[in-house]
Amino acid sequence: MTQTDTNRVLIFDTTLRDGEQSPGATMTHAEKLEIAELLDEMGVDIIEAGFPIASEGDFRAVAEIAERSKNAVICGLARAQLPDIDRCWEAVKKSERPRIHTFIGTSPLHRAIPNLTMDEMAERIEQTVSHARNLCDNVQWSPMDATRTEWEYLCRVIEIAIKAGATTINIPDTVGYTAPRESAALIRRLIETVPGADEVVFATHCHNDLGMATANSLAAVEAGARQIECTINGLGERAGNTALEEVVMAMKVRNDIMPFETGIDTRKIMHISRRVATVSGFNVQFNKAIVGKNAFAHESGIHQDGMLKNAETFEIMRPEDVGLAGTSLPLGKHSGRAALRAKLKGLGVEVGDNQLKDIFVRFKELADRKKEVFDDDVLALVTATMDGDTEKLQLVNLKVVCGTGGPAEATLEMEIDGAEHSASCQGDGPVDASFKAVRKLHPNTAQLQLYQVHAVTEGTDAQATVSVRLAEDGMIATGQSADTDTVVASVKAYVQALNRLLTRREKLGPGADAREISYKELG
Ligand code: KIV
Ligand code: ZN
Repeated sequence: MTQTDTNRVLIFDTTLRDGEQSPGATMTHAEKLEIAELLDEMGVDIIEAGFPIASEGDFRAVAEIAERSKNAVICGLARAQLPDIDRCWEAVKKSERPRIHTFIGTSPLHRAIPNLTMDEMAERIEQTVSHARNLCDNVQWSPMDATRTEWEYLCRVIEIAIKAGATTINIPDTVGYTAPRESAALIRRLIETVPGADEVVFATHCHNDLGMATANSLAAVEAGARQIECTINGLGERAGNTALEEVVMAMKVRNDIMPFETGIDTRKIMHISRRVATVSGFNVQFNKAIVGKNAFAHESGIHQDGMLKNAETFEIMRPEDVGLAGTSLPLGKHSGRAALRAKLKGLGVEVGDNQLKDIFVRFKELADRKKEVFDDDVLALVTATMDGDTEKLQLVNLKVVCGTGGPAEATLEMEIDGAEHSASCQGDGPVDASFKAVRKLHPNTAQLQLYQVHAVTEGTDAQATVSVRLAEDGMIATGQSADTDTVVASVKAYVQALNRLLTRREKLGPGADAREISYKELG
């Protein structure tokens, strides 16, 4: 039986070699060990741990990963030069399952670099692969830039590599140039025509320059390749390599038309994806397949409604299968009533139809002003509908001047009962100055019991959520607001809390048994 007859596809992960090679993605020694351990635990068949001749650090990392890894074959990369191959062997030999991966560029452009004729290159391949095979019985050989190499020459050198002892023949699409039909045709041609092809495993190694790495890899597998080379999150040079999570989940979800198996525990995908993003410093784009923040998030009302009735309406795989706790239904301006009711239920709040109607109107107004409506916002809306909050005080404009040279100065314009007023105040920092200006326009004795700032999103343009709790005459009210400007969010939260105090005082009357009304009382 040849490899092609089985439906088991080997997963060869090169996050620590081709991935780490991408500019800016360098990992520390400890980080490489951690990622290798996670790859080993998730069931990767072969880990390409580094390029031992490249640096002392790479050598140490490959050697230590080789010593520690429990299940995977540990592979190191080497150019077609004897000292490279020796160094690679030194690094991988402590593995229980070592592999040497040696390569040379075979396309016309790559042959021109070492200035070798076709015959001279063929001789070099024979010499280096034999040398590697004398050291290690598991040898992978790659004709770099295979997809731009003359097919006839490719067949010739692959035959030489097989005869010299290569056990895996990898076909790299080094510059991401091929397309699915061609990728399949090339693999098929090699398997059908190269003598000895049935004794080796054919691998596919694709780059994503035209966004076709996943499709090209799967097409190669359909044509008979039985090893996919890939990286977590598609990390890699330029547009990256084939993403491990994409090919693995594609074969799992569409096993009906791609009946191939891997040894990957897909529930470990999310965790390793996050760790690779953190240690490489390459954040995953929100809409990245499988591992993007939005890959299992639904905001539109129609989608949320469908998801709540039957998750299969808009999801082709279960979030749990990739290691997520569940689907995310973030609330935003596209969300509908069903999603709002589900969110309230999740927060422990049961509301009747009339109250839901009221909350929904306020929610839509808020969602028009904010990108994402958070749990605390929803709870504040619930309290507002109970209180029948009116907005006596409204922030119109705020300007703050601050620096290192002296006190901050805030100029505030506020509408009070429909009439505009303005005031300027100095303070110990911009928030203090702004709160003083609010008190100048609306004198009150409310004590600031709590002032908290959280960054909700990442980056310097992050949304800051500010919570303010005020107490006055035994009455407590909270305000919460989010804005990319922390001072603006602070003033809005402060004004919201003041409005709530005013509303409650009006409702309860002076001397009433005032207390904070919590959303939990609504149930
Ligand atoms: O893309 C490529 O050609 C490579 C080889 C070294 C296999 O990464
Ligand atoms: Zn590559």
